[in-house]
Amino acid sequence: MLVLGDRPIGVFDSGLGGLTVVRALRASLPGTSIVYLGDTARVPYGVRSASTVVEYAKRCARLLRTHDVGCVVVACNTVSAVALPMLREMLDVEVFGVVEPGARAGLAATRSYRIGVLATRGTVVSGAYERAVTDVEPSATVVQQEAPLLVPLAEEGWLDGPVAGAVIRSYLEPFRGTGVDTLVLGCTHYPLFRRVIEEQLERLDLGNEVTVVDSAGAVAKVLVEAVGVSPGSGSLRIHVTDLPSRFREVAARFLGDSVDDLCVQQVDLQ
Ligand code: DGL
Repeated sequence: MLVLGDRPIGVFDSGLGGLTVVRALRASLPGTSIVYLGDTARVPYGVRSASTVVEYAKRCARLLRTHDVGCVVVACNTVSAVALPMLREMLDVEVFGVVEPGARAGLAATRSYRIGVLATRGTVVSGAYERAVTDVEPSATVVQQEAPLLVPLAEEGWLDGPVAGAVIRSYLEPFRGTGVDTLVLGCTHYPLFRRVIEEQLERLDLGNEVTVVDSAGAVAKVLVEAVGVSPGSGSLRIHVTDLPSRFREVAARFLGDSVDDLCVQQVDLQ
């Protein structure tokens, strides 16, 4: 078991979407403190090249290191897909990514071993989910689909209604005829659309029932096993590289809670 002592878990993401991972961690580990870094000055990472994402991830890791974190959770699927080996080499604490837990959650849910993944372009191009699934179950098939418009829709708060419904439907249509029975939401923003995704899957009628799983819930389970549940109430400190307008509104949407009382600080990354 990993002993955190008084040290917080460091969590970082390209922006505020990683607060969906913080939300899952706080629900499972209420006694553990968290230091969150959202690189809001450089979001989105999902459309950038792997080498740029690796460079950004290095800067985020350097900042978290100054907070004496006991371990690091890479909430961003895109960073987890392309920068995990570099981060594990660079940091002297354990580093948890979200792709492997997400892939395992998909494998736990599937019966047909045909798994769909919705993710950013960077994550899809990396093939990380496919590798994570077939490393465990070589006979499994992964069908990937990028869903870039869901990131701005989530930030605008268009979580349901006709636009979200139509966009989601068009991203789900390619899964028709593929036989997938499980869909992994492989991006920090997508859990906010879970209900509409489930609704649209039902409407599309892929020929079988599809179970939706997300990597946020999956990584929280991994952390519970790794650090154990401690009593008390942990703190949450949020660092951002830019304070966007409507920050509190957007952050609250991802966190599922008000951020008014939270300690939020703007930082520069070296
Ligand atoms: N945080 C990113 C991810 O989970 C989504 C947003 C972005 O493109 O930066 O892949």
